[in-house]
Amino acid sequence: MTLDIVPSGQACGATVRGLDLRTIDDELVAEIRAAWLEHKVLAFPDQQFTDDDLERFTLHFGPFGQEPFFAPIDGRVHIAAIERRADETSPLFAENWHSDWSFQENPPDGTCLYGKVIPPHGGDTLYANQTAALAAMPQELRSRIEGKIAVHSARGGYAPDGAYGDNDADDRSMRIRPSEEAYATQLHPVIRTHRETGEESLFSVLGYIIGIDGMDDDEARALLAEVYAWETREEFQYQHTWEPDMLVMWDNRCVLHRATGGYDGYDRLLHRTTIGYNAAVPASA
Ligand code: SIN
Repeated sequence: MTLDIVPSGQACGATVRGLDLRTIDDELVAEIRAAWLEHKVLAFPDQQFTDDDLERFTLHFGPFGQEPFFAPIDGRVHIAAIERRADETSPLFAENWHSDWSFQENPPDGTCLYGKVIPPHGGDTLYANQTAALAAMPQELRSRIEGKIAVHSARGGYAPDGAYGDNDADDRSMRIRPSEEAYATQLHPVIRTHRETGEESLFSVLGYIIGIDGMDDDEARALLAEVYAWETREEFQYQHTWEPDMLVMWDNRCVLHRATGGYDGYDRLLHRTTIGYNAAVPASA
């Protein structure tokens, strides 16, 4: 079957129409994977997913990822609710650019997000193509990050003194569970080669990246801020607008993403799984 793929016309992202993702065979899974690797973010409108369907779809692409610092929705282990009530006053969740759980030893290859309650306006998700950002990066900046190893940590968000920690707003609807474990650190190269495509990308961003291994903190932060300003430029972005019953999957290895607001007074609810590190996928040549 040839997929009906409409590229976004922006720096990444495509919409795939005409599929019922509840019933896909191995051949279709391979085609979706190829499209996912090419476009980095795929949106599938009009999917009538139950939570079972979301889990089954996720498992076509890898094992479930490990979800730290979140309690799952009732009755599930691997599904988190990305939720905000109409009257909620807490700061927006995930408004900073990030790559999901990049502070893990084996961060999730991808994320699936299914739109259940979508406000009539606002609430878009922004993506930034990190393969394109690296390819276009001025050599002078690139030469300063080549071979460097980034120090990742969840502390800024999920430690007791982090943004979602003990002083977070009382009325947050999301089931965030801050913990001392957020102070742990993990090293990853600033520039990584994608296991499946062989393409080089910038991996993650200042925020979950808190320093550069072996570099003075102030110097590292200044460099990371320069990289941040480059990699999040509008020319590398795709702005995704949600519809109810839309499933989006993205590749954390080569895109950043962030939430946006603009829907005060309306509920927003999406169910999320992560596609864990999949050691079984064939590596690129
Ligand atoms: C996320 O970062 O998982 C949430 C993105 C969004 O709410 O748009």
